[in-house]
Amino acid sequence: MPVTEPILTKRIPTFPWGDPKNRKTISVDEYIATGGYQSLEKALSMTPAEVMAMVKDANLRGRGGAGFPCGLKWTFLPPPDGGRRYLCVNCDEAEPGTFKDRLLCDYDPHLILEGIAIACHACQLDTAYFFIRGEYHHQAKVVERAIQEAYAKGIFGKQGLLRGKSPFAVDCYLHRGAGAYICGEETGLLEAIEGRRGWPRLKPPFPAVKGLFGRPTIVNNVETLAAVCPIIEHGVAWWKSLGCESTVGGAPSYGPKLMGVSGHVTRPGVYEADLGITLRTLVETHCLGMRHGKRFKGAIAGGVSMGVLGADQYDCRMDFDIGRLGDVMGLGTACPTVFDEDTDMVAVARNIARFFKNESCGQCTPCREGSGWILKLITRIERGDATTKDLDLLLEIAGSMGLTPGTTICGLADGNNWAIRTLVNKYRSEFEARVKPYAVSMSGLQLAVARV
Ligand SMILES: Cc1cc2nc3c(=O)[nH]c(=O)nc-3n(C[C@H](O)[C@H](O)[C@H](O)COP(=O)(O)O)c2cc1C
Ligand code: SF4
Repeated sequence: MPVTEPILTKRIPTFPWGDPKNRKTISVDEYIATGGYQSLEKALSMTPAEVMAMVKDANLRGRGGAGFPCGLKWTFLPPPDGGRRYLCVNCDEAEPGTFKDRLLCDYDPHLILEGIAIACHACQLDTAYFFIRGEYHHQAKVVERAIQEAYAKGIFGKQGLLRGKSPFAVDCYLHRGAGAYICGEETGLLEAIEGRRGWPRLKPPFPAVKGLFGRPTIVNNVETLAAVCPIIEHGVAWWKSLGCESTVGGAPSYGPKLMGVSGHVTRPGVYEADLGITLRTLVETHCLGMRHGKRFKGAIAGGVSMGVLGADQYDCRMDFDIGRLGDVMGLGTACPTVFDEDTDMVAVARNIARFFKNESCGQCTPCREGSGWILKLITRIERGDATTKDLDLLLEIAGSMGLTPGTTICGLADGNNWAIRTLVNKYRSEFEARVKPYAVSMSGLQLAVARV
């Protein structure tokens, strides 16, 4: 069933249902007056195990990038032992081209807080840290105010959830990041909250077992937690009627998704759409087509880490199958950046390479050194100083970095790997046009050295 009415954005005017000009931050009173915190009330009438089972049955897949099933992750927690248990809300949102969580923070922060309270009840987590990226100054203020409102209404606090309806008490704190992309990686985020440099940890152990301050911890994305509310409100069957099944025998892609579209489209913005919508429909219908009627040349799938969809992939479906079907790493954040026919893809690659070089935390040699070499090589290619051999070297370096080849601690390097490889492979002729044949470019001295 297609999404016929706004669900996550029901209080945030968004095309095609509402006009963004009419947006305003929803206060706690307005939230409650429009049915807010009723999902929490319903959840509290159920046992934690029942709520967890519901989210698991709904097959809600994480909205932060990896698409890991949320309910399944929750089941990895050990049973409560009387010590602290944490929820870390990932609002780092530093992936270039991604700005969907910001929309929820800006206008409907209580939807996230309600999802937090439900998750804490389901998983018996007593402390929630809302980790928000350093650059989100305004959003941090809005969320901080909403947390205070929630305390004033007895949602959080020592009396127990929802004015003591449950004896289980939850505290919620806002924690501001300092502006590093790596703090969005879940264990980098834990390090940052603990007050250290955001260096990702080796896994296992995974956070569910040993997370914040060594205690059981769930890390969930903002949108994932927001999506828990309608699941509890309307039920599993309803949730599963939205979105789509996998066409390649994989896990399904149920529910609506916030998709932030940027780049060369007529009307960029965040849209709520069915998982499974084609990129073409998203651009042509929601975004009113390509800017100035130009031709579609490609798109970053969902954050630069996922890699790029080529000119012949405009009809790709935006769901969790996209990794297998579209030769990209995955759906990521489902926030595409669209390129028109005039885009210089070598310049795009250089820009992305610079990002990854700057954001590598430096712990793993392949990522630290590789990201620097990738930037050097692409800069050389862009200037016209490179040879065909440099192009091969570029692919070799990119392909050897990341969790998939098994050479790094975290997935930042995979992002660099996929972004660069898909750009070079899908726009190879543009790169080739900028490089010289290997033999021709060699000076006499180099040839002599090569012969030795
Ligand atoms: C380099 C890097 C950056 C990431 N940045 C974010 C981010 O900004 N927000 C986010 O929710 N997840 C981010 N993730 C994914 C998280 O590690 C984690 O999978 C996610 O927060 C889990 O939440 P979910 O299951 O609800 O999606 C990032 C991962 C990597 C490797
Ligand atoms: S892959 Fe890169 S960002 Fe991730 S831990 Fe290693 S060096 Fe740091």
